[in-house]
Amino acid sequence: MQKPARIAPSILAADFSQLGADVARVEPHVDWLHIDVMDGHFVPNISLGIPVIASLRPVSDLRFDCHLMMHNADNYFDALATAGADLVTIHVEAYPDPTAAAKKAVEAGLDFGLVVNPPTPLESIEPFVDLCDVLVLMSVHPGFGGQSFIESTLDKIRDARKLVDSRGLTTDIQVDGGITPTTAASAWDAGADVFVAGSAIFRSEDPIATVRELRAAAGGRESDRNEGTDTRRR
Ligand code: DX5
Ligand code: ZN
Repeated sequence: MQKPARIAPSILAADFSQLGADVARVEPHVDWLHIDVMDGHFVPNISLGIPVIASLRPVSDLRFDCHLMMHNADNYFDALATAGADLVTIHVEAYPDPTAAAKKAVEAGLDFGLVVNPPTPLESIEPFVDLCDVLVLMSVHPGFGGQSFIESTLDKIRDARKLVDSRGLTTDIQVDGGITPTTAASAWDAGADVFVAGSAIFRSEDPIATVRELRAAAGGRESDRNEGTDTRRR
């Protein structure tokens, strides 16, 4: 069942010279914080890593959603948990069988999710859905912010929603990339319930107004941060 939309600003589009202030500004209005970690190998870019997550942890109570665009992400689960991650998501393209990695995440006290790139069929994660707290459908090619939403992701979101609901699961369905109020509305209609937005929020003249527009576009209901998996577990 589709849950009230959770809005997850991606700090990739924040001003890193004032990251704490950028996060503090949006914190009361959003649900999760999306943290893009890149290894310069799985994706052709490098972003930020564990020390930045550890620096943010004491200044934010948001659920830290760490999107690991990496080949060997599971080597870092313990360090990420210690730094303050709540959820790690890894790519099925890097982990064709993610069973062991999912187990390792749980052992580290982390929630776990699988990410699918635009060209990768949803079937690649079907056998592993039961291991996931979150399914992530990339709506841009990973590695860079500020790209345009790939419309064919909507079909994949619809299929993911059918898959989750037909199995009676409560798995979140996250869409990541090119999210604006317009694309959020389409993704919500297709069945997504977690919305990652970098440029739309942090490059906005009024980030809080943009968060409100995103929420209005995505069903219009406030999520309850004090319930279910949206609560920080520590
Ligand atoms: C892309 C990242 C996205 C990105 C989204 O590699 O995974 O999370 O930050 O940025 P926008 O919202 O600008 O597309
Ligand atoms: Zn991301």
